[in-house]
Amino acid sequence: MVRRLLAALLLMGTVAAAPVSAAEVTVYTTREPGLLKPMLDAYTTKTGTKVNTVFLQGGLAERVQAEGARSPADVMIVVDAGSLIDLTERGLTQAVHSQAIDAAVPPALRDPEGHWLALSMRARVIMVSKDRVPSTENPTYEDLANPRWKGKVCIRGGQHPYNTALFSAMLVKHGEAKLTEYLTALKANLARRPAGGDRDVAKDILAGTCDIGVANLYYAGLMASGKGGPEQKKWIDAVRVVFPTFSDKKGTHVNISGAAIAKHAPHKQEAVQLLEYLTGPEAQAMLADGNFETPVRAGVAQPAVLAAFGTVVPDSVTPAQIAAGRTTASKLVDQTGFDR
Ligand SMILES: [Fe+2]
Repeated sequence: MVRRLLAALLLMGTVAAAPVSAAEVTVYTTREPGLLKPMLDAYTTKTGTKVNTVFLQGGLAERVQAEGARSPADVMIVVDAGSLIDLTERGLTQAVHSQAIDAAVPPALRDPEGHWLALSMRARVIMVSKDRVPSTENPTYEDLANPRWKGKVCIRGGQHPYNTALFSAMLVKHGEAKLTEYLTALKANLARRPAGGDRDVAKDILAGTCDIGVANLYYAGLMASGKGGPEQKKWIDAVRVVFPTFSDKKGTHVNISGAAIAKHAPHKQEAVQLLEYLTGPEAQAMLADGNFETPVRAGVAQPAVLAAFGTVVPDSVTPAQIAAGRTTASKLVDQTGFDR
């Protein structure tokens, strides 16, 4: 009896261990495993679809291009509008048509042809010293170049994609001549050479090196949550986060993280289903909880530390416009000697 039960259990084990037709999908991504893995694991638990993940530091487009028609990539997940649109322009993507995705992602945050879509928004905010900047002062991006901030501004390198995207948005608003003027004036206001990361802005404000700077909002969330450690909690406690607009008062500059389906995706149907999940309420909440990014889907609850800073109202310049202007923005950063 016992032996027969054991035999039956063993047989079941064998059957369970060798699923012949289990669905699977392969994700190539430059995102951190710690952020993405919980979402993909939750997806597997929910649907039974196995997710193969290739985490890359960079060179994702080059790799998919080199693999050509034999590429196992189904879904590509990246940060920055520029890198997303680069995939499309290299012909590495294919169109997705899904009512669920169209309902979840606002039109400005996805390709009209369906080749890419945003998964989260990454607002670029201004941090000011709580001690040295009056609480009534809410500078715009343009104000950073005002002589009022002479020797007081901290920012990371001008050629970093976060900044070329911001400068590209300014190019869309004001044109090449004005952006050149802006970069020259902003450079004259710097407290130190443009370098380091976004978190260094808060650190340097606490240290008194600068009074004002530019950083992505999720870093504020990360520091405020305590996940970055007690030191970083002190940095963020020294600053007030301003949700700036450009002078036209439309909204705050946001960049995106996003996804596209690979042109030669071996599992297209599963790829679409995964994107539907990632734009759904559960995964969108996990993106906000795990990395303090702003969900693209409306009505998703955000973690308290993030909500405490305020609500992101995105500027009117679209990711596609930002991507289109980044080469010129980068050229002007170079020409004005911004980083030197
Ligand atoms: Fe970042």
